[in-house]
Amino acid sequence: MRAVWYECGGVAQDVLQLGEADVPEPGEGEVRVKVAYSAVNPFDVKKRVNGRDLAHCKRVIPHVDGSGEIDKVGAGVEKQRIGERVWLFGAQFGQPHGSCAEYCVVPSWKAVALPDGVALEHGACLGIPVVTALESLSAAGPLEGKSVLVAGGAGRVGAYAVQIARLHGARVIATASKSKCADVEQLGAEACIDYKASHLESRLRESGGKRGYDLVVESRFASNIALNARILACKGVIATYGVDDDPAPAIPVVQLVMMNASCRFVGIFGLSRKNLQSHFERINQLAGDGKLQHRVGLEAPLAEIVKAHQEVQEGKVAGAALIKVAQ
Ligand SMILES: NC(=O)c1ccc[n+]([C@@H]2O[C@H](COP(=O)([O-])OP(=O)(O)OC[C@H]3O[C@@H](n4cnc5c(N)ncnc54)[C@H](OP(=O)(O)O)[C@@H]3O)[C@@H](O)[C@H]2O)c1
Repeated sequence: MRAVWYECGGVAQDVLQLGEADVPEPGEGEVRVKVAYSAVNPFDVKKRVNGRDLAHCKRVIPHVDGSGEIDKVGAGVEKQRIGERVWLFGAQFGQPHGSCAEYCVVPSWKAVALPDGVALEHGACLGIPVVTALESLSAAGPLEGKSVLVAGGAGRVGAYAVQIARLHGARVIATASKSKCADVEQLGAEACIDYKASHLESRLRESGGKRGYDLVVESRFASNIALNARILACKGVIATYGVDDDPAPAIPVVQLVMMNASCRFVGIFGLSRKNLQSHFERINQLAGDGKLQHRVGLEAPLAEIVKAHQEVQEGKVAGAALIKVAQ
């Protein structure tokens, strides 16, 4: 089969290779997926740069998200799953071979039935971004009537967080770079404010209401923690999934104590299988009912894998970056 792999960590053009590999066989409890689309997320890029998974194997076929059709099942998996259209979660997590190949083997529960009417292309957008959005939004309890700030509302995760918070009855304000604010408002934010604007804090206060924000869904914890501490409501929650340049920023403890605030650090690959499966169900409801807008910012063939990784790494892709694997 055609596959992309790396055997040491480093820059995309030096380490990513496209070649022929053996077609994998599903073991007990596993399914084999004929991959249609493989998504490049920042998580895949970081793992390729630092090569950390190579501590456990010689070769990594990257990418945790993707979509396709089950073509073979291992022992203990119902034969009826053959032919099922699926989206993938965590394909290259805890195992060396992910979705950037014509075939990919995963534990059966990580190949989630794709609802009828949802395109395979959109199935590959779901995994990391929507699970992260749902988990972050769950940090402050029911959202109905709450005031939610989505920092980075134009990002892969942020765009779904905006949509889902709105669908759950929250008042949603977002930040984004200036040129993307209109798109984020179109996704459902009541207002989207340029995060580089002067008077950002006063504009966020005006938009968020007197009480402040009940929940901030944050893509850049270090950059925004000081601001977030000032605009949070009493007993507000900052749910952060994004670690930016400073991994150990100063925390405005006094301010956060005075507001009885909580910080929830979200790491979706540390969630239990039960927790994840409940997110998968909710994702399928929302996607199956046509409630989610999916944004594909790049679609490229396997041969353009280096460019796709570079563009994701440089933050140039607004929306999902998809590798079209099936010919
Ligand atoms: N912990 C987890 O489980 C988990 C899960 C998913 C993702 N992540 C991490 O979260 C980060 C974001 O992922 P992603 O896929 O959503 O990336 P993305 O699509 O590149 O989105 C990141 C967004 O951050 C925005 N941004 C940049 N500077 C900002 C600032 N100062 N204030 C507010 N927003 C700012 C950018 O906005 P503009 O585009 O408008 O400039 C961009 O849209 C990555 O580091 C990823 O690895 C972690």
